[in-house]
Amino acid sequence: MALIEINNLYFRYKDGTQALRGLTLRIEGGRKTAILGPNGAGKSTMLLHLNGIHLAQQGEVLFAGEAVSRSNERQVRSRVGMVFQDPDDQVFSATVWEDVAFGPSNMGLSHKEIEARVHAALKATGMWDYAGKAPYHLSYGQKKRVAIAGILAMDPEVIILDEPVAFLDPRGKDTVFAILNELNRRGATVIIATHDVDLAAEWADDVIVIAGGRCLAQGGTELLVNERVIREAELRYPVVARIFQELPELELPVLPGNVPAAVAALRRHLFAVKGK
Ligand SMILES: Nc1ncnc2c1ncn2[C@@H]1O[C@H](COP(=O)(O)OP(=O)(O)O)[C@@H](O)[C@H]1O
Ligand SMILES: [Mg+2]
Repeated sequence: MALIEINNLYFRYKDGTQALRGLTLRIEGGRKTAILGPNGAGKSTMLLHLNGIHLAQQGEVLFAGEAVSRSNERQVRSRVGMVFQDPDDQVFSATVWEDVAFGPSNMGLSHKEIEARVHAALKATGMWDYAGKAPYHLSYGQKKRVAIAGILAMDPEVIILDEPVAFLDPRGKDTVFAILNELNRRGATVIIATHDVDLAAEWADDVIVIAGGRCLAQGGTELLVNERVIREAELRYPVVARIFQELPELELPVLPGNVPAAVAALRRHLFAVKGK
């Protein structure tokens, strides 16, 4: 059984926008999953179902085999931490410290434990020096880091990040992904939504491609060099793959989509040339 299963999910906003139209997908526990799709595909709407902010209007969302509903949304929310696309939706306390302490304070932890968690989360996200500042005065990228710290401090089993790298500088991006990888190494399930194919190709174990409120394809990173998937989801090839598209003389059976695949392909080629 997959940790998260969505079956034939439909969701329509109050203004009549049909955001999800029969979405079906599986997310395995303990893995790094990237949800890809163009703007308006339904990624954020789908993610908001995973911690009960939206509830299924038709179809079902199962978490650990149980349908997410009004009656268990709190319990699901304690296990699933969500970093919203827009940190202004998430960061609202008087100080950065209070903001990060908000989640753990509602978990019935001791003062000492809360302090330790907030400290660790602010250190990990590089925001410790801002602990006493008002989030209001921070840049967008800094607010995003605070939002991430707030979720880290809750130590959830599943961490979901909607467009995690939007507005982050390269260093901030590296910091966030180092944290996500460490969490995953310790057993957490990490799910991100992004339209960044390069990021997904480098980082993800599993890829889910959504377009028009439906799942177009689900599999490994090889989907990101699949011509049909790219066309139908209005994505583009990862940069690495585009380089190899210019090199048909290498006669590669599949286009490498990320750096390790490219290095392996080049090694094989160099080895073959040398062997001749
Ligand atoms: N609060 C809302 N009210 C009405 N329509 C919305 C709302 N949020 C999103 N939508 C619409 O739902 C569709 C899916 O949006 P969204 O889930 O945000 O896609 P994505 O995250 O993939 O860009 C889009 O057509 C979007 O305009
Ligand atoms: Mg979105």
